[in-house]
Amino acid sequence: MSNTSKCKVCVTGASGFVASWLVKRLLESGYHVLGTVRDPGNHKKVAHLWNLAGAKERLELVRADLLEEGSFDDAVMACEGVFHTASPIITKSDSKEEMLNSAVNGTLNVLRSCKKNPLLKRVVLTSSSSTVRLRDESEFPPNVSLDETSWSSVEFCESIQVWYGVAKILAEKSAWEFAKENNIDLVAVLPTFVVGPNLSPELGPTTKDVLGLFKGETEKFTMFGRMGYVHIDDVASCHILVYETAGARGRYICNSAVLDNNELVALLAKRYPSFPIPKSLPNIYGDQSYGYNTSKIRELGLEFKGVEEMFDASVESLKAHGHLLERTP
Ligand SMILES: NC(=O)c1ccc[n+]([C@@H]2O[C@H](COP(=O)([O-])OP(=O)(O)OC[C@H]3O[C@@H](n4cnc5c(N)ncnc54)[C@H](OP(=O)(O)O)[C@@H]3O)[C@@H](O)[C@H]2O)c1
Repeated sequence: MSNTSKCKVCVTGASGFVASWLVKRLLESGYHVLGTVRDPGNHKKVAHLWNLAGAKERLELVRADLLEEGSFDDAVMACEGVFHTASPIITKSDSKEEMLNSAVNGTLNVLRSCKKNPLLKRVVLTSSSSTVRLRDESEFPPNVSLDETSWSSVEFCESIQVWYGVAKILAEKSAWEFAKENNIDLVAVLPTFVVGPNLSPELGPTTKDVLGLFKGETEKFTMFGRMGYVHIDDVASCHILVYETAGARGRYICNSAVLDNNELVALLAKRYPSFPIPKSLPNIYGDQSYGYNTSKIRELGLEFKGVEEMFDASVESLKAHGHLLERTP
């Protein structure tokens, strides 16, 4: 852990699953962190942040909402760097309009605040691998290794009603356009499915999916098909690395391993025999063989933790918060 005092940075949506771990790592490396949340007085949502090492000395939480114009002005004005992670995540109740409004207009809202800050050095946007791979897979050559030049198709996402994909593609594209027009130094991190410890006792959407799988639910991971997985600690490290590396530019895919859903459940069922994890899942997409080329971020020095390590950490955290009970096989 570094005790070197560093500058002040803003993390939007600080109480979220990914952002909380990022705040933890930023505090550990000596940054002053100004986190935005929708309700700083909501003890249930923010208590875990106040328990982080360094929080009492170097964490501030302020209120900001993506849907309120100018809401981020004060938070961003005080900072040299901004990590924009806040975004609505897939839930069944989210309509296309709600998703797009918070993701696209919310991102532009944050960037408009950034534009007003003459001392701002860099903005790191948390995008998603959903902006890279969601296309008709028959267009991909077998075993294609997707890199940062690849963009998902909005039309394809609309045709399968994946509004999260549409929202993330349009949010990232709007961010690039706005940053270019307004001379903002922007870098984007594109994580695949994030796995690891949940700092808050309230579970984030992807951790709920992992919990479901460990309880025997099949629907979500059947629908996910072949997917990339990454440890939450690597996602946080990736954000900090691209913020601190002066020469970092453009998009960075952040992925450890890509697995077919059947490969994943076979690995998990064997590793955690005391949980009713399905041993196989229906294959609804036929043969899928895509992978990700992560050489760009690895060239900056990031080494990815393996799938076993990320699920071990997730399981330990789910047990610690009482979501998973150890059972006799
Ligand atoms: N988890 C993954 O597997 C994954 C993979 C790739 C990319 N990502 C990206 O990582 C980021 C964080 O995701 P996550 O998994 O950590 O989800 P999460 O736990 O649901 O966090 C999302 C955060 O966004 C905030 N938010 C949503 N709508 C908002 C609004 N109108 N105004 C202000 N804040 C708002 C939420 O605040 P409240 O707490 O107030 O609801 C929450 O703190 C997102 O940009 C997501 O697209 C995640």
